[in-house]
Amino acid sequence: MLSQFSVLVLHGPNLNLLGSREPELYGWVSLAQINSLLEEEGQKLQVGISCLQSNHEGILIDTIHQARGKHQGIIINAGAYTHTSVAIRDALSGVKIPTVEVHLSNIYRREEFRHNSYIAPIAIGQISGFGANSYILGLQALVNHLRAKSD
Ligand code: DQA
Repeated sequence: MLSQFSVLVLHGPNLNLLGSREPELYGWVSLAQINSLLEEEGQKLQVGISCLQSNHEGILIDTIHQARGKHQGIIINAGAYTHTSVAIRDALSGVKIPTVEVHLSNIYRREEFRHNSYIAPIAIGQISGFGANSYILGLQALVNHLRAKSD
């Protein structure tokens, strides 16, 4: 199969604990399961998927820089860095790769400090609150966006 686009999926801090971490908030699905759901959806949509999780802001930033020329779109769940990291926002706007922000939980139903996202204003859009399905919805939205742009 020839993939039309390659999509980088970035998972931020603590998301390696998914499946056991606060399941009442984040569900029972592990990160490995989310990555394989994304692979499956990628095959249906005929796009390549590369996933990376890191607990380190600098590694996430380096990976965003390295995405230039390799990936046409980014899905990011920056975890707590969503609410703190101007540096991740600057990296995303610096590489100008279309980005969709996703969250498992609905960040607007939670503590006030989670209501601000540094990433949302430079993203195509944000999907928040649908558990693991947020990633799948985000991938579908990103691919629709990329296809509409390349027509
Ligand atoms: C999260 C929401 C963030 O506020 C939190 O720090 C996370 C996970 C989510 O997917 O719901 O680590 O990004």
